[in-house]
Amino acid sequence: MKNLTRVMAFALMLLLVAVLVNSSARAAEDEEVKKAQAEILALAKKLSEGKDVAQEAQAIRKKYDDLNTIMHAYKPSPKGGIGTGLEPKAGDGIEIKLINLGKRALPAATLAKEKDALLKSAYVNLAIGEITMHYAPEKPRGGKGAKEWKQFTEDMNKGTKELIQALKDANPANVKKAALDVNNACQNCHSDFRD
Ligand code: HEC
Repeated sequence: MKNLTRVMAFALMLLLVAVLVNSSARAAEDEEVKKAQAEILALAKKLSEGKDVAQEAQAIRKKYDDLNTIMHAYKPSPKGGIGTGLEPKAGDGIEIKLINLGKRALPAATLAKEKDALLKSAYVNLAIGEITMHYAPEKPRGGKGAKEWKQFTEDMNKGTKELIQALKDANPANVKKAALDVNNACQNCHSDFRD
């Protein structure tokens, strides 16, 4: 009986240590994601002011080994993403918004209401594109390599610039078309490079 109690106490202690180690690893990851997002937002602001960010984008890439640390920005804000700032918060992810924008043109009144938030998200997207450019794989996989990576990122950036223009023009049809181009670039890259 005594032995059994001891074994159980030991097992419980091991479990506790495992839980603590795991949650502190996750906390460190969340910290990285938050730091990266502050840098993405600063880059987005510079882009919106027409500034060149090439060097900074490269410097950010060097700080974060894992592209997911950057891409996590696309998730809804309650899941640790940047979020569009639009309600409802649970569905405010920039990724889902881009997908929806590409499906149906927004009514002009909705577009007018969401314009500022969408413009901000579009500049976040442009910032992510500028950073993503620097994550091209060194070695090709499945016949796809740096050349394709660069192409997908350029497609995404081109679509995002068109999206920015369409938002500034408050043109629903052009917003839809540009968002669709952006989504296609995301998907093309994911199908070749994302596990
Ligand atoms: C040039 C390639 C490329 C482009 C363009 C790209 N992605 Fe990704 N994305 C990746 C790769 C590769 C991963 C997986 C990274 C990893 O596992 O380390 C990823 C991961 C993600 C994730 C998962 C993040 C997480 O925390 O799990 C999301 C969400 C995402 N991308 C959204 C997007 C959206 C939205 C777009 C377009 C607006 C986009 N990506 C454009 C390559 C790309």
